[in-house]
Amino acid sequence: MKEPDYENAVAITRDIHWVGFYDHDARLHCNPYLLIDEKDVILFDPGSIPHFPIVMRKIIDLVNPSDITFVVAHHQDPDVCGNLAILEDIIERPDLRILAHSNSVWFIRHYDLKSSVIAVDDIDYRLRLQSGRVLEFLFTPHLHSPGAIATYDRKTRSLFTSDIFGAVSRDWSLFAGDDFLEPMKEWHQHIMPNNHLLRGFIERIEEIEIERILPQHGSVLEGANIRKAMEFLKELPCGYDLIGK
Ligand SMILES: [Fe+2]
Ligand SMILES: [Fe+2]
Repeated sequence: MKEPDYENAVAITRDIHWVGFYDHDARLHCNPYLLIDEKDVILFDPGSIPHFPIVMRKIIDLVNPSDITFVVAHHQDPDVCGNLAILEDIIERPDLRILAHSNSVWFIRHYDLKSSVIAVDDIDYRLRLQSGRVLEFLFTPHLHSPGAIATYDRKTRSLFTSDIFGAVSRDWSLFAGDDFLEPMKEWHQHIMPNNHLLRGFIERIEEIEIERILPQHGSVLEGANIRKAMEFLKELPCGYDLIGK
């Protein structure tokens, strides 16, 4: 498959776009995504301060920043939320809402934000957009953060998993190739708490129809790679399972 042009935003579906930064020298790539619905625009995990100029340029190529109505922060890490305060200044929209789990909201407030931060657990883990499209949030506690969530877009059967299904490697591609399991292994062994919680999450999403997994690091998984990754992570010892071994 021809490599996408990483200098620009990359369309993953007709309305979901990768707006991240391909840093050739880094092993950890961050993947912010923009979902452009009929009347709402949702930005997922906008990212860090150093990545902000590139991420924002790609967003501006697609929409007017003030069209962004929601930002989903899947957890509170600096690679997810670091640029939120600059971002909201550029979006300049008094009704901008930032969505996160209440366990993350405690920390996200320390980024000194002006916008309303809404806890997804206070809105029944569902967001209905103006078009009627519904985004569902899945609470994934301690994978790896106590307030971690994932987002499921039923319309495109896309699951935004943030750090889960992430990966680290210098040889990065936006869409997973054949050898994506090793980079995924290293990431999960370092970042995730144990196999028990990881396996529980995978078993939970086995009930959902998934066409693509969009993690915040590593590569987008589609087709047979989804099942391959799930089976791999279900058996992978990580975090505390490995301490002292
Ligand atoms: Fe994280
Ligand atoms: Fe992350």
